[in-house]
Amino acid sequence: MEDLPSLKESFLRESSSVRALHDIQALRVKYLGKRGIVTEKLKALPTVDPAQRPAYGRAVNEIKQYIEAEIARIEAHLREEEYRKSLLSEALDVTLPGKYTPPGREHPIQHVLSEITDIFSSMGFEVGEGPEVELDYYNFEALNIPKNHPARDMQDTFYISDDVVLRTHTSPVQIRVMEMRPPPLKVIAPGKVYRCDADVSHTPMFHQVEGFMVDTDIAFSDLKGVLELFIHTMFSERTPVRFRPSFFPFTEPSAEVDIGCIFCSGNGCRVCKQSGWLEILGAGMIHPKVFEYVGYDPETFSGFAFGMGVERLTMLKYGIDDIRLFFENDLRFLRQF
Ligand code: PHE
Repeated sequence: MEDLPSLKESFLRESSSVRALHDIQALRVKYLGKRGIVTEKLKALPTVDPAQRPAYGRAVNEIKQYIEAEIARIEAHLREEEYRKSLLSEALDVTLPGKYTPPGREHPIQHVLSEITDIFSSMGFEVGEGPEVELDYYNFEALNIPKNHPARDMQDTFYISDDVVLRTHTSPVQIRVMEMRPPPLKVIAPGKVYRCDADVSHTPMFHQVEGFMVDTDIAFSDLKGVLELFIHTMFSERTPVRFRPSFFPFTEPSAEVDIGCIFCSGNGCRVCKQSGWLEILGAGMIHPKVFEYVGYDPETFSGFAFGMGVERLTMLKYGIDDIRLFFENDLRFLRQF
């Protein structure tokens, strides 16, 4: 009973020096824990003289309640302080200017690709696709270009293995689509192609858009109509279009399509090599052999196909004279589009 006042004093002394939450925890254990000073005092209750027991019990309980309340008060105070400190240290100055992220824009090639796709979509063509790592069978064989055929020299090829190549054109998509579905078909296939080739007008990777249409009565005039409408939409209503006989193993007859030079209006200049014409795509009527490869009856069905280089078209449209500019990622060049 006599040491109860000094117990309170020592608690007051110790609690006044508490600065952190872990100190308060230590204090709680020391006074109120299982073997805490106050707890021990309560345990001693049965040994106290019965006459003094009620007064002793009351006094110890009073101290216990006091200490509990004090600890709770100090703890709340410390928590509050800690919270305020964290608010200060984590504060954001929302008035600071942000880091400027310049808005990106479409690459000119992507832009022209979308333009081409839009024009053909408006004519009812759907978009198909195939893999860039392609079987020799689809890239050559089924397009009527057998192994060791001289026509393979038209396209310098990256071989992955004897049977696998990086596709050299988008024409294999013709085969893949026709293998999967019967006519009628009206499909374009934009995508990347690869050739072992590099100079001012050739890069090892470039883009093509393939297009083809198969049905029971497709004629060369349909090919002409579709391509003329495309060219007049892409360039101008007045752009002259010319079909020149050519050769592709997978079309017969085959043609190369030229447009009147848009730089000199056909008068002859450096770009058109004084001819007045610019070649922009290859085309033709799908070869009966190709139909046989995909299991179509060449007596029943006919169709046309064409393929164009997107970089070349973009160069012509914007008057760019070096294809490599597209892939150097020089922002001074790209920002002009
Ligand atoms: N695949 C040919 C090339 O890359 C282009 C072409 C496509 C020609 C379709 C005719 C028909 O050169």
